[in-house]
Amino acid sequence: MREIKDLQTIEHDVLVVGAGGAGLRAAIEASRLGLSTGVIMKSLLGKAHTVMAEGGMAAALGNVDDRDNWKVHFRDTMRGGKFLNVWEMAEIHAKEAPDRVRELEEWGAVFDRTKDGLINQRNFGGHRYPRLAHVGDRTGLELIRTLQDAGVHGGIDFHMECIGIDLTLEGGRVAGMLGYWRDTGRFALFKAPAVIFATGGAGKAWRVTSNSWEYTGDGFGMAYRAGAELMDMEFTQFHPTGMVWPPSVRGTLVTEGVRGEGGILKNSEGKRFMFGYVPERFAPETADTVEEAAKWLGGDKEARRPPELLTRDVVARAIRAEVKAGRGSPHGGAFLDIASQQPADFIKRKLPSMYHQFKELAEVDITAEPMEVGPTLHYYMGGIRVNAVTQMTNVPGLFAAGECGTGLHGANRLGGNSLSDLIVFGARAGQGAKDYIDALSSRPKPDQGHVNDIITDAMSFLDRDDGENPYVVVDDVQVAMEEHVGIIREGPELEEGLEKLAALLERTKNVKAHATSQYNPGWNTCLDLRNMLISAEATARSALAREESRGAHTRLDFEGEREEGLKYNCVIRRAADGSMELRKEPRPAPPEELAKIANASIEDLEANRV
Ligand code: FUM
Repeated sequence: MREIKDLQTIEHDVLVVGAGGAGLRAAIEASRLGLSTGVIMKSLLGKAHTVMAEGGMAAALGNVDDRDNWKVHFRDTMRGGKFLNVWEMAEIHAKEAPDRVRELEEWGAVFDRTKDGLINQRNFGGHRYPRLAHVGDRTGLELIRTLQDAGVHGGIDFHMECIGIDLTLEGGRVAGMLGYWRDTGRFALFKAPAVIFATGGAGKAWRVTSNSWEYTGDGFGMAYRAGAELMDMEFTQFHPTGMVWPPSVRGTLVTEGVRGEGGILKNSEGKRFMFGYVPERFAPETADTVEEAAKWLGGDKEARRPPELLTRDVVARAIRAEVKAGRGSPHGGAFLDIASQQPADFIKRKLPSMYHQFKELAEVDITAEPMEVGPTLHYYMGGIRVNAVTQMTNVPGLFAAGECGTGLHGANRLGGNSLSDLIVFGARAGQGAKDYIDALSSRPKPDQGHVNDIITDAMSFLDRDDGENPYVVVDDVQVAMEEHVGIIREGPELEEGLEKLAALLERTKNVKAHATSQYNPGWNTCLDLRNMLISAEATARSALAREESRGAHTRLDFEGEREEGLKYNCVIRRAADGSMELRKEPRPAPPEELAKIANASIEDLEANRV
């Protein structure tokens, strides 16, 4: 065993891991409640996947359509999630999102305005009314800026470029976490009785993703190794519109706001193909005008409910089908055209980032020509299982919020529900941590032997004489996930994918980083790989176990939703022998009142009859 001298120790009441929207909001809450709070982040403050939720945050403010209220938002969320959502979380989210958004305004967020000076709201897929409070197409960025301002002035300690390796427990309770500084490679022991994970997803396990390098499933991996449960990992969202060209930026997000502001999708024949993919329950007969589609989709023409704003799973599958049928764009996507729908000054005002993104990265002027877009892995609906009210996991003292937690979105997340998720459940995690700490009679202490083991393991990638290049293994994981756990899945392919992942896990045990731990991306990658593989395996295993097609999970060999599918969640846990164990856990019956709302007709909801 390695002897650890002069191990840096930092002590907080609460340690938040991740500085996206959920992490920052959790830290603000904890700090305001009087807890000493530290936030560690893999990268720099201001750089989080939150900024990739560009189009807005969903909250039933009713500023643009006063028929909106929490019940309609709740109903949309449940329907979008194909009723697999944790009911109570969907209720809390719909009820609390408006207050959390107004609070951001008080803290200085500069939202776009209606003519009457209220927070403006735009349409997004699956939302019945214009519901997304937005700041042009930079909403996530504004959210982060606002929370950072509130946090920096509020006495929170920010530790940048610091990465978590593993939690350390005492008697099954969280005692802290061991991490390392990316620049010096030095280890740091964070002592804290409550740790809140806000680590995002694991999009980097796929080749084409909107996620940046940080999203390697660190929270999933660390939580799993500590004994926490992962749930619904089969539900991974492919956002329908990522850039497909040039190759260097393939996967980069093209906000749904483009479609929310009137952009339409066309194939290589110039046909607006989404009319052909309206699910049956919306389109009992065919129609080919926007007015008719609007009728199916439950809105009116002014409210713009075009078929491009069907939920993301439907649009992503449609683009894929067009490409497969030989009607794709030159680089394997579809055409997203807003130029023919809106004047140039409107596009530049409402979608400034998209305008610059295409101009600079693809030399395309979106006010004059269509964009080429295709599906990109964007988001994990599944994640670390939490208590709906407190956000605590089954490991006492470990909390999770935002994308790394699970429950709100069920089988498919509605666009814009992620930003509101972050602020609603981020705040709740901060409160949950406070309540947990207040109830502790003594603070758990990190086990020095375990800390030494974590360090020895981490250093083994540098210590060994020889081994494989970790980047090659990452590449192979991404290819395996792309080929075997993509938008459309099938049993034998998933099984083959799992075999490949098992082989990759063995290879991961022998990867080698050269030189020292100081600013060594190769060594960092060795550590990331362990988490990426846990995330990938959990996803593939759950995808194989769910024998139906529901929301974002499509099985070619099990078409359509099965009644049985609503009766369980796929729950993953680390078995005593270290292997990954999956069980189908029965879901509790839905609370009667909530079931009534979710199943009510829109007329009854609007007339307040439910
Ligand atoms: O398309 C977007 O702007 C993404 C939003 C989201 O993922 O919520």
